[in-house]
Amino acid sequence: MKPLGSSLFPFAFAFLFSFFWATWAHTHENFQQCLTLGSENSSSISKVIYTPSNSSYSSVLQFSIQNPRFSTPATPKPLVILTPSHVSHIQAAINCSQTHGMQIRVRSGGHDLEGLSYVSDVPFVLIDLIDLRSISVDAENSTAWVQAGATIGELYYRVAEKSRTLGFPAGITSTVGVGGHFSGGGYGTLLRKYGLAADNIIDAQLIDVKGRILDRASMGEDLFWAIRGGGGGNFGIVLSWKIKLVHVPSTVTVFTVNRNLEQNATKLVHRWQYLTAKLHEDLFVRVSLTSVNSSQEGKRTIQASFESLYLGGIDELLPMMKQSFPELGLVREDCIEMSWIESILYFADFRSGESLDVLLNRIPPTRNYFKAKSDYVQEPIPELGLEGIWQRFYEKDGETGLIVLTPYGGRMSEISESATPFPHRAGNINKVFYAVFWEEEETAASERYISWIRRLYSYMAPYVSKSPRAAYVNYRDLDLGTNGKGNTSYRRASIWGNKYFKNNFNRLVHVKTIVDPANFFRNEQSIPPFSSGWKKRGD
Ligand SMILES: Cc1cc2nc3c(=O)[nH]c(=O)nc-3n(C[C@H](O)[C@H](O)[C@H](O)COP(=O)(O)OP(=O)(O)OC[C@H]3O[C@@H](n4cnc5c(N)ncnc54)[C@H](O)[C@@H]3O)c2cc1C
Ligand SMILES: *[C@@H]1O[C@H](CO)[C@@H](O)[C@H](O)[C@H]1NC(C)=O
Ligand SMILES: *[C@@H]1O[C@H](CO)[C@@H](O)[C@H](O)[C@H]1NC(C)=O
Ligand SMILES: *[C@@H]1O[C@H](CO)[C@@H](O)[C@H](O)[C@H]1NC(C)=O
Ligand SMILES: *[C@@H]1O[C@H](CO)[C@@H](O)[C@H](O)[C@H]1NC(C)=O
Ligand SMILES: *[C@@H]1O[C@H](CO)[C@@H](O)[C@H](O)[C@H]1NC(C)=O
Ligand SMILES: *[C@@H]1O[C@H](CO)[C@@H](O)[C@H](O)[C@H]1NC(C)=O
Ligand SMILES: *[C@@H]1O[C@H](CO)[C@@H](O)[C@H](O)[C@H]1NC(C)=O
Repeated sequence: MKPLGSSLFPFAFAFLFSFFWATWAHTHENFQQCLTLGSENSSSISKVIYTPSNSSYSSVLQFSIQNPRFSTPATPKPLVILTPSHVSHIQAAINCSQTHGMQIRVRSGGHDLEGLSYVSDVPFVLIDLIDLRSISVDAENSTAWVQAGATIGELYYRVAEKSRTLGFPAGITSTVGVGGHFSGGGYGTLLRKYGLAADNIIDAQLIDVKGRILDRASMGEDLFWAIRGGGGGNFGIVLSWKIKLVHVPSTVTVFTVNRNLEQNATKLVHRWQYLTAKLHEDLFVRVSLTSVNSSQEGKRTIQASFESLYLGGIDELLPMMKQSFPELGLVREDCIEMSWIESILYFADFRSGESLDVLLNRIPPTRNYFKAKSDYVQEPIPELGLEGIWQRFYEKDGETGLIVLTPYGGRMSEISESATPFPHRAGNINKVFYAVFWEEEETAASERYISWIRRLYSYMAPYVSKSPRAAYVNYRDLDLGTNGKGNTSYRRASIWGNKYFKNNFNRLVHVKTIVDPANFFRNEQSIPPFSSGWKKRGD
């Protein structure tokens, strides 16, 4: 902690907070009473309510904050945190928040890139689903029910416990929560064969604004469509997902081949872009770009890391790579055969012989400050364009920059743009993830790094999708536009909405208008309902 007075910020915040607190104390007391009365399970609800006067309030809040940028003294905190252990607790919270004029934020894994699952400018209740995370795997039928508070690591672990030839196509970092992740899509190493996590959801339980528990049959196909890719926090609280598990072979092969500029990295990355769409759907090769120390003392270079999962053995992979990407020079020694669940550990960077149990750990090994953005590439970036990226990595604030290019093709290009709200399908050759990391606490540092990533993003404009310049909702980025305070207009929301959802944005607004007309579930980038009132006002 900095000494008090080194900045007015914490002080002003403390003042504002106590002001809110005094104003809301009364409301909040009634709110708590409402919770206790409203819950069928009143005996157990008091054990899951935390206010700032409970000693574990801070640790419960911080446990799932994945980005310390949203955990400073100036970050607004919830008035109440609820960690439901029973569905009736959620129903009571939805009911009482409405009757007492409080907003809610829902958190599953806490990876929201802008912290929207646990930060809000207005007085709010945090519903943290950490204790609703049971997983039941039906290996015989290749399905599973997974509660929203589970992480993808826990899901992979439970699936592997039952079968080594079943898997699920979701993300790479094991601490990501299924609540937010499946709501926005969910990319991982199986996407070229099976699409996204959201493409493999077959039923769900959702608690709506009226506190009803709906399943696929009772919510109807429009709402069921909307919750599979339309982004978390819009339509209700997902309690659990029913997913279709997919077949994985008992042996898969992984490799990581690093090439720097002296080893033709520019040419290789350039060439890779022409291949991705054409490779066999069992083969996934992504590229991570970073700047690293060169072997020449004091110099830096760019490293392109080709990271791959092949759904089969080395003997099939080698000829396939030799035929399609001989320039990479892949050799047998680069390749490791393992089970699919071990490849999950490998991609999550657990490469020192850790036991599968690390997948159950909800706290990642490190949590750095970061800012991220996304793009879609539809025409290969020319070598000159790549060299401009390298220049930006050489800037001082770019040393901790990262770009990950995720290949398209296969199943991703077969699914139609309107099958789910997630529209980024055929026509893309790769998805770009940009990030920059830092450790310094000061606001000035974060401003410098964020400014660097914004400059990189503007530099990329000529090389990526246009009209709209598309983005991935799970890489939430408030630079793309935000709703106004309170209610927002359709016109204002469509600025960011068209980037995430393209032509599906209108259908999402339509669904929202039917299921949550008063816009109870809202945040800085939530789908707005149509409202005659706002249309007249224009904003
Ligand atoms: C370190 C890191 C690694 C990542 N890796 C990948 C990856 O490999 N592939 C990929 O596709 N994405 C990845 N992401 C992005 C990730 O998919 C999104 O951040 C996702 O939304 C996280 O879900 P969560 O439950 O952890 O987050 P949360 O912050 O809990 O939730 C995200 C959003 O969903 C809402 N929400 C949460 N739970 C529910 C619920 N039960 N019902 C309704 N709304 C809900 C929240 O209110 C919030 O708006 C990564 C992000 C990080 C920070
Ligand atoms: C009350 O909650 C407990 C645990 O939270 C649960 O086991 C029990 O079934 C619930 N009872 C009712 C009546 O809902
Ligand atoms: C928080 O404090 C209140 C008041 O002392 C108590 O009733 C409640 O059970 C506490 N919550 C938890 C989770 O311990
Ligand atoms: C909240 O619960 C009360 C009592 O169960 C009920 O009468 C009321 O209609 C509910 N309100 C909402 C907004 O669901
Ligand atoms: C598989 O599904 C069928 C039909 O839904 C069901 O009857 C059966 O019990 C399921 N198998 C298991 C092991 O649950
Ligand atoms: C780089 O590419 C050239 C031809 O394009 C080739 O001759 C050379 O061997 C490559 N260098 C390395 C280190 O692979
Ligand atoms: C890279 O080089 C710098 C100085 O040239 C040194 O301080 C730093 O530790 C090096 N980093 C790594 C990862 O070797
Ligand atoms: C938003 O609009 C809804 C529906 O018209 C209305 O009930 C609500 O009070 C409005 N909220 C704000 C903050 O203006």
